[in-house]
Amino acid sequence: MSHFLDLTEIGQDQLLSWIERAHWFLKNPRPSSQFSGSVALLFFEASTRTRLSFAQAAFNLGLQTLDLGETASSSISKGESFEDTCRNVAAMGPRLCVIRCGDELDLAVLASELPCPVLNAGWGKKAHPTQSLLDLACLWSERKSIWFRRILFWGDVSHSRVVSSHQEIAKIFSIEIGQWGPPALLKKDEGIKTFQSASQALQWADVVIGLRSQRERHSGEVLSQFLPEHSLDIEKLKFFSSSGLILHPGPIHWGCEFQPEVAKDSRQRILQQVSHGVALRQSLMVHFLEAKRCQDI
Ligand code: CP
Repeated sequence: MSHFLDLTEIGQDQLLSWIERAHWFLKNPRPSSQFSGSVALLFFEASTRTRLSFAQAAFNLGLQTLDLGETASSSISKGESFEDTCRNVAAMGPRLCVIRCGDELDLAVLASELPCPVLNAGWGKKAHPTQSLLDLACLWSERKSIWFRRILFWGDVSHSRVVSSHQEIAKIFSIEIGQWGPPALLKKDEGIKTFQSASQALQWADVVIGLRSQRERHSGEVLSQFLPEHSLDIEKLKFFSSSGLILHPGPIHWGCEFQPEVAKDSRQRILQQVSHGVALRQSLMVHFLEAKRCQDI
C-alpha cells in the first residue's frame, strides 16, 4: 500500500504495530534518529487538531512542513483547482502529502497521480482513518489491549467520516457499533445497533464517542431535532459503566451533543486523544516514509 486513504485491506497485526509504535512515540516524542525533508499539509477544509498534530508530528521527526495555509491566501482564490494545487505542491518534492478535502475531490484518483505517499487527513463523509486510529490508540493505551467490545456513537452519526472509519476498524476487531442521537442524524445501516432510549444505549456501551453536528454537510434545520434527550449529561451518565470511557474527536459543541459537566467526568479522555493523535501520526509517517524508501531502492 503506497497511500493511506482508508483502513480496508489492513489487518490486525498492522494496526496493532502502528498503535504500539505510537505508544512508544508518546513516551519518546523526539527520537534521536531524525528524518530530513518536508511534509506538505494541504487542507481544503477547516481543521485545528489534525493539521496541527500532523505539523507537531513532522517537527518531532525532524521534518519541515510545507503548509498551504488558508485557501483564501493561496492561488485557489484565483481559480486554481484543488487537484492542480496538490499536483504543483507535490512537484516541489515533499516526502508526504497530507490532504483534507470534501467529497467533491476524488482523493484516490488524485493520490494515484502524485509522486509521494498521500495520507488522508479527513475526506468528506468517506473516511478519517487517522482519527479512528488515534481513538483506538487512546483506548488501547488504557489497558494495552483491545478491551472494548461495544462502541456507542452519540450525536450526528449520519454525516460522520469518523464513524465510517471506525466501522472499518470494527470489522477488523469484531467490535459492535451502536448509535444514539436525533433520528434524522442516525445512519441507516443494518450493521449499527439503534436504541429506544439514551439509558438503554449507555447501559449497552463500553465506550461512548460523541460527534458534533456536521453543519457544513447538511442544512441547519436538522439542529431543531437535537432535543435534551440527545445531549449527554450527568444524569444519563449514571447509566454508563464505571469502567467505560468517553471520547470525542472534536470540535465539541458544548451544550449540544455533550453538556459541559461531561468534561469533569473521570471517564472522559478527550485531551488524551489529542496527545495520542500526534504520536499516532508520527507512527504512520514513519511507516510511509520507510515504505517509500524501500520502494525506491
Ligand atoms: N478531529 C478532527 O478532525 O478535528 P479537526 O477538524 O480540528 O482537525
